[in-house]
Amino acid sequence: MGSGTTLVEAKLLNRNAIGVDINPQSVSISETNLQFQCDTTSKVHIRNGSATDLSFIKDGRIDFICTHPPYANIIKYSKEIENDISLLPIDDFLTEIEKVASEAYRVLKKGKMCAIMMGDMRKYGKVIPLGFKVMECFLKAGFASKEIIIKEQHNCKSTEYWENRNNNFLLLAHEYIFVFQKV
Ligand SMILES: C[S@@+](CC[C@H](N)C(=O)[O-])C[C@H]1O[C@@H](n2cnc3c(N)ncnc32)[C@H](O)[C@@H]1O
Repeated sequence: MGSGTTLVEAKLLNRNAIGVDINPQSVSISETNLQFQCDTTSKVHIRNGSATDLSFIKDGRIDFICTHPPYANIIKYSKEIENDISLLPIDDFLTEIEKVASEAYRVLKKGKMCAIMMGDMRKYGKVIPLGFKVMECFLKAGFASKEIIIKEQHNCKSTEYWENRNNNFLLLAHEYIFVFQKV
């Protein structure tokens, strides 16, 4: 859920939506961002919890999933919140993403889509293809790969720092939006 961008768009599009985030701060920011008037009858539900456990949702009830997890521990969203997957190194992070993928598969209606945004990372000058590792988790959960969208990513906080250094590598300047279908 983060700051609630997806929920704001859902409200504007008159869609019912459920947002989940492990961080209570994200919950309060989203609540604030959703306090605007518009011509809508939809219901938006905010939940402080983990995307690895959606047991409050019955099987096959959801029409669309849109998720933007942390990219392992590149950016830490909290210091010590239990189940915050932004605190995890890659292997542990992928174990949790497998749980997210299997819960997403369970709650989605058959034939419907799940979109996930994910980026790669670089460690000691080498690219770690986190995006494709995450994609594998969703395929393993039973999803079919419907689309791979490349989103250009410029002007990050750290871009200027890296541009001004004498690097022997290219800057990562894209993220993926994987669209999966429950077939
Ligand atoms: C990349 S941000 C999402 C940003 C969002 N797209 C926005 O527009 O604000 C990732 C979010 O995942 C949350 N998060 C970390 N672990 C989680 C978990 N186990 N379940 C649900 N959310 C989690 C973090 O608290 C953070 O808000």
